[in-house]
Amino acid sequence: MVDSTTTTAPTATAPSDTAPRRTVKTRPVRLPFDASIPKRWLADSVAATHLSNGVNLLFPFGERFFVRSVRHYLEQLQAQGEDELVAQIRGFFGQEGRHAREHERFFEILRSQGYELDDFLARFEESFTRLEHMFPPVFRLAATAAGEHFTALMAANAFRDRAFFDRADPIMRDLMLWHAAEEIEHKAVAFDVLTRVVPNPVARYAVRTFSMAVATAFLVHWWIEGTRTLAKQDGISWKEFREDGERVQALRRELGIGERHIARDVFLRGIVSYLRPGFHPWDEDDSALAAAFLKDFEARRLAKTQASSGAEGVGAGVSGASEEEAS
Ligand SMILES: [Fe+2]
Ligand SMILES: [Fe+2]
Repeated sequence: MVDSTTTTAPTATAPSDTAPRRTVKTRPVRLPFDASIPKRWLADSVAATHLSNGVNLLFPFGERFFVRSVRHYLEQLQAQGEDELVAQIRGFFGQEGRHAREHERFFEILRSQGYELDDFLARFEESFTRLEHMFPPVFRLAATAAGEHFTALMAANAFRDRAFFDRADPIMRDLMLWHAAEEIEHKAVAFDVLTRVVPNPVARYAVRTFSMAVATAFLVHWWIEGTRTLAKQDGISWKEFREDGERVQALRRELGIGERHIARDVFLRGIVSYLRPGFHPWDEDDSALAAAFLKDFEARRLAKTQASSGAEGVGAGVSGASEEEAS
């Protein structure tokens, strides 16, 4: 699946006095996507699969925007001697670059399953670009921090929902949980950059709350639109989609993990926590959720590398890929 080359950003300290030292590690992951992935890869559910696929469609362009937004301040932070944060930023670039690339590789699987994505992607990217040009760099950075807050919440939910994701196709489960784990690892990077470049807490609060509102509206609209685009191509009506969603909630209750509602558990919860004036992403330390998965994931990665005796096999890694390939 991946090779043995791993780059690790030096340990860095988050700005909160109480924050533990954290690393943002770039893993050269290349997943073995193939035709074995079923159309309904998540719990055999059209609703769960297309909600996941719908947000999947937003990741590559969105994550490259995140990288651009943070990169704008890289030289300034280097000049300010923020070496530890700069090291975390480089890990963040590497992680987001690989996420974008792997999700884009999954687009080819969706296309091979008969889905037409290009019209949606063109509309989404045009709208995103227009919005990006409307706002100055500090608002783009704050929108990135808001987006990272939502992705970190989704990531933590994915690990709490592990029993449900164990009903996923194994390649897709690795994609979702690897991405989720790294979102948790780097969840404070954009926020910490914002803290450095807007040191005045009142000004920063104004910028981040406004940007959160814009980011929320944009993400909700395009996530729904992406999901709708895919479900429509399956000929699924809204009624059928809802009924399938109810089956998923029943399965979740059976699995003992309770119901999951994105509006409540990602957006409402995310907004309420983010609006607290003293908020920091590591107020909730969910790094243990990511660590348990990554330990197993890296052990499997190492075993595969050893099994291939150092040769790059099918789906092998991307040694030498640029850590900033997201840009
Ligand atoms: Fe990501
Ligand atoms: Fe991220």
